[in-house]
Amino acid sequence: MITTKYFFLLVLITAGFVFILLYHWFSANVIVGDRLSAVHLSEPENSAARFSGQSSQAGGRLDDLTVYREYDEKFVIIYNRVPKTGSTSFVNLTYDLCKKNAFHVLHINITANMHVLSLPNQLKFVRNITAWDSMKPAFYHGHMAFLDFSKYGMPAKPMYINLIRQPLDRLVSYYYFLRYGDDYRPYLVRHRAGDTMTFDECVAKQKPDCDPTNMWLQIPFFCGHHAECWNPGSSWALEQAKRNLANEYFLVGLTEEMDEFIELLELSLPRLYRGAVSHFQKSNKSHLRRTKSKVEPTPDTVAKIKESTIWQMENELYEFARDQFHFVQHKLRTPGRNVMQEFLYEKIKPNPNVAGKN
Ligand SMILES: *[C@@H]1O[C@H](CO)[C@@H](O)[C@H](O)[C@H]1NC(C)=O
Ligand SMILES: *[C@@H]1O[C@H](CO)[C@@H](O)[C@H](O)[C@H]1NC(C)=O
Ligand SMILES: *[C@@H]1O[C@H](CO)[C@@H](O)[C@H](O)[C@H]1NC(C)=O
Ligand SMILES: *[C@@H]1O[C@H](CO)[C@@H](O)[C@H](O)[C@H]1NC(C)=O
Repeated sequence: MITTKYFFLLVLITAGFVFILLYHWFSANVIVGDRLSAVHLSEPENSAARFSGQSSQAGGRLDDLTVYREYDEKFVIIYNRVPKTGSTSFVNLTYDLCKKNAFHVLHINITANMHVLSLPNQLKFVRNITAWDSMKPAFYHGHMAFLDFSKYGMPAKPMYINLIRQPLDRLVSYYYFLRYGDDYRPYLVRHRAGDTMTFDECVAKQKPDCDPTNMWLQIPFFCGHHAECWNPGSSWALEQAKRNLANEYFLVGLTEEMDEFIELLELSLPRLYRGAVSHFQKSNKSHLRRTKSKVEPTPDTVAKIKESTIWQMENELYEFARDQFHFVQHKLRTPGRNVMQEFLYEKIKPNPNVAGKN
């Protein structure tokens, strides 16, 4: 009686073990098999093999689309915003969209508002952003100089975007912002609150707050983390900023043409910016965060500022960015007609349909 009971128990336990072992062996094999076929099919060298078999062709098509969709789902954008370039209204729009379009927005807060990351933090930051899959698709923003991900041995780079503004406008706006704040956070007392000197008076008296050297900000932000970037008047920094703008930035818009910037983003990155144009127009964000009590500088003041090398160099970067932005915008539509540019493939050989029927 007792022995039969034990015997049955033994058989049950053994059967359980065998089942678990078989299950593991099977699932491991199936997963490895899947991975192999996925790699195999997404390799362009094997495209000839894909044409020959019907089954692999169907599988291949499904797989291509999955890969394509993955690009959107693993997306990282960095917006290394320059202070006082209208960034608040754009970031506000992105926050409004993130829930509806299902992506994350993260602010990069660096100790004491520093614009350059320390060496250990550069590596940490780059690795963190790259590895943090549960945050993707992600939009990171912060007052941080451009950081070149290719120096840290990462498999993929994020996409950089930015906005750039006429340097004198930015300086004047910043000058009054420090004194009077803005309508976004009117309760906040700013560093120079109580100082009623106008920008014109400041320039006439050659005070440090309106020193053209303060305009040296958009160049270093685009130039990056090199010491020379932060040396006002450096022509190396200007050239580096232009090269980065052309080679490393997906899109750089103009504060003065925010609507067009948002339209281009909605058209090219719909995964994040679907519905952005109508939302932006409806919510009237373009008027958000206006610096209070701003007085336009007199022509004399403007002329004086424009004599400075710093203004001339910053303005050169601005004009470089402006020409690029207008170029991108004009290429959006067919010349002379208000029709979007399209592209298609044709003359595909050997014919995939014929090959599949063999
Ligand atoms: C964006 O700005 C509007 C005011 O124009 C405000 O109501 C809204 O809460 C802001 N959104 C975020 C995410 O800050
Ligand atoms: C950044 O973090 C510090 C420390 O937590 C905080 O005091 C500060 O308000 C933050 N800055 C912004 C812009 O949120
Ligand atoms: C990235 O950093 C954040 C904040 O420190 C942390 O919570 C997160 O787990 C990190 N992610 C990765 C993948 O390292
Ligand atoms: C948008 O803002 C402007 C200027 O503040 C105002 O004249 C206009 O009526 C506003 N439009 C809407 C739809 O709120």
